[in-house]
Amino acid sequence: MSDRRRVSRGPRYAQITGWGMAVPEKVLTNDDLARIVDTSDEWIVSHTGIQQRCIAGERDTTLTLAVRAAQEALLVAGIVPTQLDLVIVATVTPEYLFPSTASLLQDALGAAHAGAFDLSAGCSGFIYALSMAADAIRSGSAEHVLVVGSETLSRIVDWTDRNTCVLFGDGAGAVVVSVCAERCGVMASVLGSDGSGGELLIVPGGGSRHPLSQQVLERRDQYVKMNGREVYRFASTVMPRATEAVVQKAGWQLQDVALVIPHQANDRIIAAAIKRLGLPADRFVVNIARYGNTSSASIPIALCEAIAEGRVNAGDRLVLVGFGAGLTWGALALEWGVPEPARPRPLFLRWLATFWYFLAGIRSAIRRTERALYDRTMGPEGAEGVRGKLRERSDRLRAVIARRLGRLRPEAGPTAEKPTAEDDDAARQ
Ligand code: ACO
Repeated sequence: MSDRRRVSRGPRYAQITGWGMAVPEKVLTNDDLARIVDTSDEWIVSHTGIQQRCIAGERDTTLTLAVRAAQEALLVAGIVPTQLDLVIVATVTPEYLFPSTASLLQDALGAAHAGAFDLSAGCSGFIYALSMAADAIRSGSAEHVLVVGSETLSRIVDWTDRNTCVLFGDGAGAVVVSVCAERCGVMASVLGSDGSGGELLIVPGGGSRHPLSQQVLERRDQYVKMNGREVYRFASTVMPRATEAVVQKAGWQLQDVALVIPHQANDRIIAAAIKRLGLPADRFVVNIARYGNTSSASIPIALCEAIAEGRVNAGDRLVLVGFGAGLTWGALALEWGVPEPARPRPLFLRWLATFWYFLAGIRSAIRRTERALYDRTMGPEGAEGVRGKLRERSDRLRAVIARRLGRLRPEAGPTAEKPTAEDDDAARQ
């Protein structure tokens, strides 16, 4: 019996069943940076813990990284993209202002039945998105949700500003969250915001207040501006506080926490949290040396690495905690429910997945072509004559096909519409 039926009468939990990450191939070391701005490996390591970061190549974008991470997560979860109900992409560097990166990702994956939206909450974005996904699952409105944190911060940092350009890197991390009958997964979350600190970490230009203009470009306002000291002060306080709050909300003791996965912004901020919480340092995942601050991707990337290193086991209690632009913060208490680390998937499954994504590309191309042809050949709405009639027929047929495709959806959700008798009549005409 499927998960859906099994949990329909009992309590519903939201657990992570798949995970994946992707980083660009190109690596920029501190020494490389010292050739671009007035800095040094010694300064960067001693002030931040960062040794290198991955930087998007010409062909890497927030979407391409998201696609790679998501494909891996789906493979681990063992579901096909058509089973997804929702795709959420947390990002501060979307592919475009609109459409959302999530919608483009939904199309690239062939997740034909999923709603999709982007979520902007700075570096706390992944925590916010995972919390929303868990709520959607527990409330019964979704069975499987894909949550992605993906960033190409290298595209919005000012490569002449040593205060910021040394800090950030590019990458993506993704998880699949699925409904589950056993008590596990997301147990509690704490989300917070203090917009009075908005200007402490901001990209001032390119939005509705200061649309792109010559003046914006001259002031270099299309790039990240940060008051590092204030953000540092805020982060050092809020990270331990949010951790304590979520542990309390979950009804746990701090000592029960097997692993804390903090946002990777600065190893001194993490060290301050370790000291304040009084937990052993080996219970914290720290990988900032290799990736720098990848904003909303940093927590899922650290999660993937912790799993790969065997640091996450069934029954473990984890805390994921982040902070960022907004100002925002968030923490999640997670009880790990997957019984064993993901086995490498057989090669044929990978091939099958590759073929699926090839078909998803074709599906997308057909839809674009059909849309273009429709625009060129059909008459305007309500038009007389052959072109008007053609349009009327075609519109009806499209509606029927859309509804019929809904029927192919495995375990269609409670809101899925069934084809009506009217549709069937229309199809016969
Ligand atoms: N290389 C060499 N010197 C530098 C560099 C650099 N890359 N950057 C700054 N300096 C200099 C400064 O100019 C300053 O010199 P001055 O005293 O002559 O003016 C000196 O180093 C010390 O500057 P501070 O700001 O005091 O350095 P600090 O120890 O605070 O470290 C840092 C700066 C690393 C930015 C720290 O404040 C920090 O980590 N802040 C938090 C950043 C953060 O967490 N951002 C989160 C982003 S989350 C999101 O949503 C995107």
